[in-house]
Amino acid sequence: MNIEGKNVLVTGAARRVGREIALAFAKKGAHILLHYRSSGEEALKTADEIKSAGVRCRVFQADLAKVGDVQKLVQEIAQARLAVDILINSASLFYKTPLKDTSEHDLDALMNANFKGPFFLSKEIGGQMARANGGRIINIADWSGLRPYKDYAAYCASKGALVTFTKSLARELAPKVTANAIAPGPVLLPEDFTSGEKEAIEKLTLVGRIGSPSDVAHAAVFLAESDFINGTMLVVDGGRSLV
Ligand SMILES: NC(=O)c1ccc[n+]([C@@H]2O[C@H](COP(=O)([O-])OP(=O)(O)OC[C@H]3O[C@@H](n4cnc5c(N)ncnc54)[C@H](OP(=O)(O)O)[C@@H]3O)[C@@H](O)[C@H]2O)c1
Repeated sequence: MNIEGKNVLVTGAARRVGREIALAFAKKGAHILLHYRSSGEEALKTADEIKSAGVRCRVFQADLAKVGDVQKLVQEIAQARLAVDILINSASLFYKTPLKDTSEHDLDALMNANFKGPFFLSKEIGGQMARANGGRIINIADWSGLRPYKDYAAYCASKGALVTFTKSLARELAPKVTANAIAPGPVLLPEDFTSGEKEAIEKLTLVGRIGSPSDVAHAAVFLAESDFINGTMLVVDGGRSLV
């Protein structure tokens, strides 16, 4: 797919990795539908940066953990007379849940944001793509979705479900829509991690450092441009999952 002039919906794109993905597509000439949940000010700043690349950018707010909000987002996009060509599910919730302390609330919060939201958004937008001109779905998962690390069982399971769902999407929406996942390793550590936690993580990739959000953004552009890669997961982790 030539992504120039295409409409790309990026969820969780106000800041951090989602922002970098949106900017990478804008630099390729794609128009951006920028979704955020609570980072309204940052969303507007990112939208200005995107527009300075010479493309259009519309900003949408939704809590994707709520199916009602997902439906509202889909309606607002339709009311704006926009058809999404590429959907990138990057929005995500991440926090520690040692198994013995995990509550029903924790499991619901992590599964709803990381799996249920992308599920219903892909169902709606992917269905529209399959009925019209086709498109691409790219789900941002995590290497830990296949090889879980300790104390994050609910998060890791939510990403594992997203990887399996990506394969289902490829089957369900064929032949006009492709669906792939990206499994990043550490590319931008959570802002509340201590310097000790950061140092420990840096040592755990084979390349001896963490990556950068642009590593994930480049992978997303690559998958969007491919017409034949389908139903797979691209690991972008500096070798973290081999250690
Ligand atoms: N950063 C890494 O090193 C790393 C490693 C592996 C995988 N990943 C994956 O890469 C993606 C991006 O990473 P990141 O570090 O940029 O993510 P992040 O900062 O943890 O979250 C990205 C955005 O998700 C949005 N979000 C959270 N819950 C939401 C909800 N219920 N509804 C709608 N939006 C919601 C938030 O938007 P608002 O700020 O607007 O509320 C947040 O800014 C994620 O899928 C993550 O799991 C990242």
